[in-house]
Formats: sequence, C-alpha cells, structure tokens
Amino acid sequence: MSVSFDFKQLTERERYKLMIGTIIPRPIALVTTVDENGRVNAAPFSFFNCLSADPPILAIGVENNADMSFKDTGHNIRMTEVFTVNIVSFAIAEAMHVCGALCLRAIPDAKPLRSSAGIAPGIAPSFCFTFSAPARMVGYGSLRQRSALPMTIEDDLSRIAEQEKVLSFDAFDLTTAWQLGKLLQELATERGLGIAIDVTLHSMPVFYAALPGVTPDNVNWVRRKRNMVLRYFRSSYASGLKLQKDGKTVEDNGLSGADYAPHGGSFPINVKGSGCIGAVTVSGLPQRDDHNLAVEALALMLAKDLDTLRLAPSL
Ligand SMILES: Cc1cc2nc3c(=O)[nH]c(=O)nc-3n(C[C@H](O)[C@H](O)[C@H](O)COP(=O)(O)O)c2cc1C
Repeated sequence: MSVSFDFKQLTERERYKLMIGTIIPRPIALVTTVDENGRVNAAPFSFFNCLSADPPILAIGVENNADMSFKDTGHNIRMTEVFTVNIVSFAIAEAMHVCGALCLRAIPDAKPLRSSAGIAPGIAPSFCFTFSAPARMVGYGSLRQRSALPMTIEDDLSRIAEQEKVLSFDAFDLTTAWQLGKLLQELATERGLGIAIDVTLHSMPVFYAALPGVTPDNVNWVRRKRNMVLRYFRSSYASGLKLQKDGKTVEDNGLSGADYAPHGGSFPINVKGSGCIGAVTVSGLPQRDDHNLAVEALALMLAKDLDTLRLAPSL
C-alpha cells in the first residue's frame, strides 16, 4: 500500500508534522556556539544527522526565526564557522527542551567544557564533538524562500488549534496562575513592553499586572478578549480570524462588541481531561503579538517547542 501527499495542498504545519512523523528516528543535536563577544549559546535541533564519514559531514537544518531573522545558532556559525554538537544524555533532556525556547542559562548546572578547538564549548553530562571550519550553509536560499511564503488565515487557524492542543497543563492552580503571570511580567519587563497581563481561573481574577505604558483602555481590552475565551473555550485570536474568514462579526453571533472583543491576546488555560478552566490575557501590543506573547509564556512553562508552535509576528 502506498500513500501520497501533495505538499502544495498541505499547510505549513501539516508538512512539518508529516516530515517529523515519518522521517524517524532522528537524533537531537544540542548545538553550542559562541557569538562574536564570546557569549555561549545552546539550542536543540532535530533536523540533524551525519551524511558521510569521509569526508566527515554533518547536516543540521537551522531554520530562520518566524520574523526571518537568523537564529542565534545560525548567526554564530556564520560568524565563527565553529559549532559543537552535544548528544544529550537523559540527565539534561528536559533542560535541552527548555533551551529550544530560551538559551544556555536555562541549564543551571551546565558545565561548559573546553573543546579541542577552544571555542564552542560542550555541555556536561553529554557526549560532544566539535566541528570547526568551514561550516557551510547549504540550501539556505530555498529555506528562506519557503519561510517567506505568506501565511493564510487557514494556516494561522490550524497552527492556533495545534497551540491550544499542545499547551495543556496536567494540573493548574492558584500558584501556577501566579507563575504564569510572573513569567509574562518578566518577559515583558526584559523587553520593555507596556502591557497589561491577566490570569483568570474559572471566573476569579488571580494575577493582574499593569506595566508602564498601560492605560484603563487596556483593562477593558483584557476583559473583552477574556470574555471571548470564556465563552468559546478558544483563543480570542482564533475566534477573530474565524469571524474574519466567514465575513462575520460578534454581533452576528448575538454578542455585544462592548463586551466581546474578537482580537488576539487571550488564550485558554486548558487542563488535560478537564478542558478550559480559565484564560491568560495580554493587552498592549498589536493583537498578533499579544497572542504570541501569551503562547510563548505557556510554551516556556510547559517546556514545549516554541519554534514549531508560534505564529509569525506582526509585520
Ligand atoms: C526538540 C527540539 C528540536 C528542534 N529542532 C529544530 C530544528 O531541527 N531546526 C530548527 O531550526 N529549530 C529546531 N528547534 C527549535 C530551536 O531549538 C529554537 O528555535 C531555538 O530557540 C533556537 O535557538 P537559537 O536562536 O539560540 O539558535 C527545535 C527545538 C526543540 C525543543
């Protein structure tokens, strides 16, 4: 029996799922590099394998960030032409996952090792080997072109549906709500974002923060976006995109625009086996970026691969 797929008919997400689900098993490379200022960076890559022993050739598929900027790994390899591949031991498997969203500081006990090349350090405990110059960027042009394809509403809706499925907690209580709120507050402060953050559990506000730049208008946006999630158990951005796709408004669904805002930024707090038990809401940025920030914080808390989940930021 054979099954064939027309890649042109699939969404970007479906293509990704098909490839990572069928081309298996693939090892994961935790790649360490250094930037021009000597700062160490670590990130996991599962598009990785060896192609030949003589000459020794490794392939790592380093895609671009959603906004088309280079990932730090790609940037550093271009600059230094050196990288170290760490074959991760079980002891740091979870921390390796966190590195997919943060950077080396996410591995508190990591012990940088001196590599023979003396530049890109390895991480203990793991088996590592250093590849030094010349590291070549093959096929970079076509990757860029693919990523530059415009996303359709269908692409966005299918990716948000995936986000809502994957970003689900085993358990969520008042302490978790505060951790989520605090994490968002830290991310926003680090980036100088003037946003309002709300975490509501059932109908109870648990965490609220208004960072410099916020006005009472944001408070109202938070309320109206959150109402969308608590009404439909879907992210407010998905509800808005669906209405846009169908050429409808909230009023067509019998709701008042004064109380329901089908704009991005509020995301359901889902618990496995229970479904939606609340909402985390961000207001202050363009709606797509509000949505992305909420997703980023949830992915960090749940140690999920943000890169495969996030939507491209607002242009
Ligand atoms: C398990 C796992 C596998 C990943 N595989 C890849 C990959 O093959 N290619 C890629 O571009 N990103 C991959 N990522 C995402 C990158 O690790 C992520 O974009 C990271 O933030 C890049 O960091 P950097 O900017 O420090 O290089 C993966 C993430 C995880 C958690």
